[in-house]
Amino acid sequence: MADSSTSKTATLSIDGQSYDLPMYTPTAGPEVVDIRKLYAQAGVFTYDPGYTSTASCDSTITFIDGDKGELLHRGYPIDQLAGNSHYLEVCYLLLYGELPTTKQLENFENTITRHTMIHEQMHNFFRGFRRDAHPMATMVGVVGAMSAFYHDSTNIHDAREREIASHRLIAKMPTIAAMAYKYSVGQPFVYPRNDLDYAANFLHMCFAVPAEEYVVDPILSRAMDRIFTLHADHEQNASTSTVRLASSSGANPFACIAAGIACLWGPAHGGANQACLQMLQEIGTPDRIPEFLARAKDKDDPFRLMGFGHRVYKNFDPRAKVMKQSADEVLDLLGIEDNPTLQVAKELEKQALDDDYFVDRKLFPNVDFYSGIILEAMQFPMSMFTPIFAVGRTVGWISQWKEMLGDPQNKIGRPRQLYLGSTKRDYVDIENR
Ligand code: CMC
Repeated sequence: MADSSTSKTATLSIDGQSYDLPMYTPTAGPEVVDIRKLYAQAGVFTYDPGYTSTASCDSTITFIDGDKGELLHRGYPIDQLAGNSHYLEVCYLLLYGELPTTKQLENFENTITRHTMIHEQMHNFFRGFRRDAHPMATMVGVVGAMSAFYHDSTNIHDAREREIASHRLIAKMPTIAAMAYKYSVGQPFVYPRNDLDYAANFLHMCFAVPAEEYVVDPILSRAMDRIFTLHADHEQNASTSTVRLASSSGANPFACIAAGIACLWGPAHGGANQACLQMLQEIGTPDRIPEFLARAKDKDDPFRLMGFGHRVYKNFDPRAKVMKQSADEVLDLLGIEDNPTLQVAKELEKQALDDDYFVDRKLFPNVDFYSGIILEAMQFPMSMFTPIFAVGRTVGWISQWKEMLGDPQNKIGRPRQLYLGSTKRDYVDIENR
């Protein structure tokens, strides 16, 4: 850990005994109290389910200011990256810490492009799944199975093997996601093409068929690239923390990323993009919005406004701002006028932001609110929304994994608990219960 310690300490008092706890000053964000020695010194644990006040690691990759609605990758604001950069340049930035020179970017793009094919034998894995399997289920299985094929990049103690695994994962994830899609619609797999850029290649693998030529629309590949960029990393979110925790035991990178994909699938996390479009379509017309807002506010109804709210952002999610603009552009460029789902989304956003319930709780649209509208316009089925999130987030998982393994203080993640179960008792034979 970089030395960020201060002379400041926090004092905790328990039963008249005081404990001084060291404090750290981050380059941005709130100060941090170090409780690592607390149990050894005071014999108590801290309690923080959901990690609402706990920094699980130190990191130099991504910073979010939730009150300002700001997201920085290695210091660069996401709107600048989404507007001026492109996904593979952002991948380089996240992985290596600095924007690349022309030569560095050329080499990196070349490496990623030349790792996009998967081992031919892996095609058989897909055929083991039912055709109606959710593509996320297929991805969890196939990405985990990469450990069985790429033995030469599973030694986590070797920096070069770690780098090869990183490149393989970033390069092969679009191929795997596209194959999961092709399998689900009963079409032949389409091999990657090295003359296309990352996003265009992904669209080609998803939508081309052998029977006729498919030319990727540059408008759509730009929008796809932006979606990947907006999802690239988001500091210690649930799936990234899952990857870090899995990796802390020394598990291989493919197993760790498969764990991240599994976590991302949930509707409170990456699964929200699919759930959000389903919700917008269920609402259907603006006149039904008040009914759904009432349900979202009703504590006896489990319904939540999908694509709304965030653990860290207490202001507009900056990714949602770019996504909203992108949705307008894509629909406009595709000549889709008066898209009813977009109309419902805009009106829902307006009414929610005027409603005290959402204002008081600082609930704003998040990245998932508008992404589904763009993906649907591109002809993706809803089941592909979360796999696309996984493709974009792979670089974030990998960068955080790499950072963690490079930290000499890295140790197995092992939370403690507030135990509320039975105390010790004797086993009772079945006939005496
Ligand atoms: N609709 C209605 N009420 C909500 C919502 C929502 N979407 N989100 C939070 N609330 C309410 C919640 O009921 C609680 O109210 P009260 O204080 O009266 O009990 C308050 O706001 C705080 O909610 P919380 O559940 O304590 O907040 P959290 O930080 O644990 O949850 C969240 C964050 C993202 C899981 C949650 O806002 C949510 O479920 N949103 C919908 C799902 C979603 O869009 N997820 C995508 C997140 S961004 C992309 C990603 O991470 O993958």
